[in-house]
Amino acid sequence: MRIPFVAGNWKMNKTVAEARDLVSKVGAQLREIPSVEKVLCPPFTALPALSAMLEGSDIGLGAQNMHWEEKGAFTGEVAPGMVKEFCNYVIIGHSERRAYFGETDENVNRKLRAALKFDLTAIVCVGETLDQYESGLTSEVVRRQISLGFAGTDSAFGARLVVAYEPVWAIGTGKASSAVNANEVLSQVIRPALSDLFGMETAQSIRILYGGSVTASNASEFFTQSEIDGALVGGASLKADEFVGITKAAAK
Ligand code: PGA
Repeated sequence: MRIPFVAGNWKMNKTVAEARDLVSKVGAQLREIPSVEKVLCPPFTALPALSAMLEGSDIGLGAQNMHWEEKGAFTGEVAPGMVKEFCNYVIIGHSERRAYFGETDENVNRKLRAALKFDLTAIVCVGETLDQYESGLTSEVVRRQISLGFAGTDSAFGARLVVAYEPVWAIGTGKASSAVNANEVLSQVIRPALSDLFGMETAQSIRILYGGSVTASNASEFFTQSEIDGALVGGASLKADEFVGITKAAAK
């Protein structure tokens, strides 16, 4: 009932020429996997070119971040309406934004509300750090990120909410969480927290992804878990074969 979802977070990689090249390698293969919702999230600078390239295809385009204000004196920021000119998706609250750019749960909440107002599907990232994991705080931390991050969001927007559970210790480290452990966090923490906010029915309809060192070789372990509806992929999304392999593994 929940459509599998795979998003590639390219982070700060790829010039426009390199971005075009990668899309020309993955485009046709991804289109052959219609049962999966697929989204590419390149840097802002590549969005116009890729939006033209992907027009009319079932491959979505997303931004990796945005500001919550509609316009104004915010040097270096990009507004939701500007994102919407090229994208239908936006990643919000990635742990790198939280760790390196001081993003708080309150900021995540402002961005999420702005995304929904501008008709964007929001991929909201949550996850504990290594210290928190080792101190047994995963559940507390993730629950708080969900309740503050999604506060005041109407359940009517359920279809445009996607949650990515990304344990910080698994991101870019090559040490993925075990699929069973990730599934437990989804089933015992994230979905119940969504249910407290939106009610059971909406909570059941929201896609929850796993992210953190997902590759073509470990992807199906995650996707066979009951609660994991797809993946947010960093490093492996920069390699055509890997990203296509992960997307194929998500097809049901
Ligand atoms: P990774 O990154 O796949 O390189 O671990 C995931 C992410 O940061 O979304």
